Amino acid sequence: MKFDIITIFPKVITEYLTVGVLSNAIKKGIVEVNVHDLRKWTKDNHRSVDDTPYGGGPGMIMKIEPVYDAIKELKKQNTVVALTTPKGEELNQKKLMEYSENTDLHMIILCGRYEGFDQRIHDNLVDYEFSIGEYVLSGGELPALVLVDGISRLLPGVLGNEESLVSESFNDGTLEYPQYTKPEEFNGWKVPDVLLSGNHKEIASYRQSLKKSV
Ligand SMILES: C[S@@+](CC[C@H](N)C(=O)[O-])C[C@H]1O[C@@H](n2cnc3c(N)ncnc32)[C@H](O)[C@@H]1O
Repeated sequence: MKFDIITIFPKVITEYLTVGVLSNAIKKGIVEVNVHDLRKWTKDNHRSVDDTPYGGGPGMIMKIEPVYDAIKELKKQNTVVALTTPKGEELNQKKLMEYSENTDLHMIILCGRYEGFDQRIHDNLVDYEFSIGEYVLSGGELPALVLVDGISRLLPGVLGNEESLVSESFNDGTLEYPQYTKPEEFNGWKVPDVLLSGNHKEIASYRQSLKKSV
């Protein structure tokens, strides 16, 4: 599975890729993530990626030309071009699972900044517009990482123990049961007795009873 992330702040993305589950997935060759500076596809001396909005109004809008050229260079036959926007379809675990099932997936992800993208990018160059929630962030880098991380950890061989995916929140329409680790007691706050009992049947039914539906 391959992701090409296009941003004007590559450092924000590359740092995250060096740690934890995603870093392992990349090292194992299960996922490839390339991070591109959008300015690479600019042609003017100022390397401009934004300009003022037609019709007036606050802020700057991301220009179509560098985005068009970037997609033209990176897009293959079955590429999904995704765009981060608060106006997009809200991301959820079901969508991540759907994408994780397509192991040949090649996705280009466009990270917006300023007031977002020229509408012609939305209308003509993009297959999937997604939001990570009903709030506005300063840029699409975090949403892009949310998508890549969320898909990658579902791929076979990425997690050390794939059993954790089974009981995980949202997997079967429920939220995961509460978990504890050592010590048995801290500050007078105790681990529930049943978890210390060693009775696997009782533990399983206790956990099941605490799973909340979503
Ligand atoms: C400041 S926002 C632009 C907001 C836009 N003017 C609006 O009102 O919808 C800049 C960029 O951050 C990203 N972004 C912000 N919030 C997001 C969210 N909830 N989900 C996905 N992307 C988001 C998008 O790439 C967006 O183009």
